[in-house]
Amino acid sequence: MQLKTTHWWKIPSHKNVEELKELEEMRSAARLLREGGLVAFPTETVYGLGADATKEEASSAIFAAKGRPKDNPLIVHIGQKKQLTQITREIPPVAHQLLHRFCPGPLTLVLKHNGSLAQTVTAGLDTVAVRIPSHPVALALLQLADIPIAAPSANRSGRPSPTTADHVWSDLAGKIDILLDSGPTSVGVESTVVDVTGKVPVLLRPGGITIEELKKAIGKIEMDPGLLNQKRKPRSPGMKYKHYAPQGELWLVQGEEKSMIRKMRQLAEQALARGKKVGILTTEEHQDQFRGLFVVSCGRRKEPASVAIRLYDALRRFDEEKVEIIYAESFPQYGLFHSIMNRLWKAAGGRVIKS
Ligand code: TXA
Ligand code: MG
Repeated sequence: MQLKTTHWWKIPSHKNVEELKELEEMRSAARLLREGGLVAFPTETVYGLGADATKEEASSAIFAAKGRPKDNPLIVHIGQKKQLTQITREIPPVAHQLLHRFCPGPLTLVLKHNGSLAQTVTAGLDTVAVRIPSHPVALALLQLADIPIAAPSANRSGRPSPTTADHVWSDLAGKIDILLDSGPTSVGVESTVVDVTGKVPVLLRPGGITIEELKKAIGKIEMDPGLLNQKRKPRSPGMKYKHYAPQGELWLVQGEEKSMIRKMRQLAEQALARGKKVGILTTEEHQDQFRGLFVVSCGRRKEPASVAIRLYDALRRFDEEKVEIIYAESFPQYGLFHSIMNRLWKAAGGRVIKS
């Protein structure tokens, strides 16, 4: 693949959508999207890598830049609700309810598409995943471009999703045209993906909107059995891939808090004795228990949102230090921790130790 010149443009984070739309950098980025280029931009969840979702060539370039398998469809981002009717066949009542309650925001809906999008975007499926991000820079860009924009997370395939412009740069410099940098993202895990094409909505990927919030808004929601059972194939194609994984081997340590920490310490000492470069992924509450070891703290256990924000950056830190084996703290299954545990579970590739 030939290297491109990647422009890294800083965009002020305090401006509103209308002010952002006046900036020359934003206008150039939108123009480039319309011309078929690749633009990385912040959303409230993670940075996305955008291209024109109606053009085959532009969308294919995303797969090439990321090294993404072709059978994994992309999320289409739009800047206004009314664009939904331009790409979908029908919007069921429950989708309207969800749109009203959570969009713009970290929710993605899977709907039947109307054939107007590039085949590569939908990976040949009859459905499309759509979302309206709430980040002002994303909204301004989408509204200026005024076309549906396919945008997966702006990381090399398999790596943790990017929550800062530095993460995007280290994965995609030379492969994309523009990187719009407006600082770290605020949610930190990707959007929640809900399939609303059937009788009962199905949760395909837990994310920034919690299951509790969804249940409160629409009552009934089923979980994709592939989420709960490793032997079942997930319905969201992307969920079957090894993902979010640091280069070292990550082990998820489970159990009651005290014994979990004791076990992590013990395992780390044993691995050290075997001559391994060891890392610990823990929270602020417990980091003092691991003195003398390479420790990365990912927020506060009391505050799930703080863990979501720092999780992917923490995972990347182990790669920077070339850590060979990582012992990670686990969390109770509620709220945002549900999404965090889903990502940790995938980063661990199913390697779990009970304390
Ligand atoms: O927060 C997010 O959703 C970020 C930001 C950039 O918006 N995007 C993101 O995209 O996480 P990506 O490509 O990394 O993940 C998209 C997920 C994958 O698991 C993919 O398989 C699933 O959505 N997906 C896309 N289209 C689908 C469809 N038609 N049916 C089921 N799952 C679909
Ligand atoms: Mg991704």
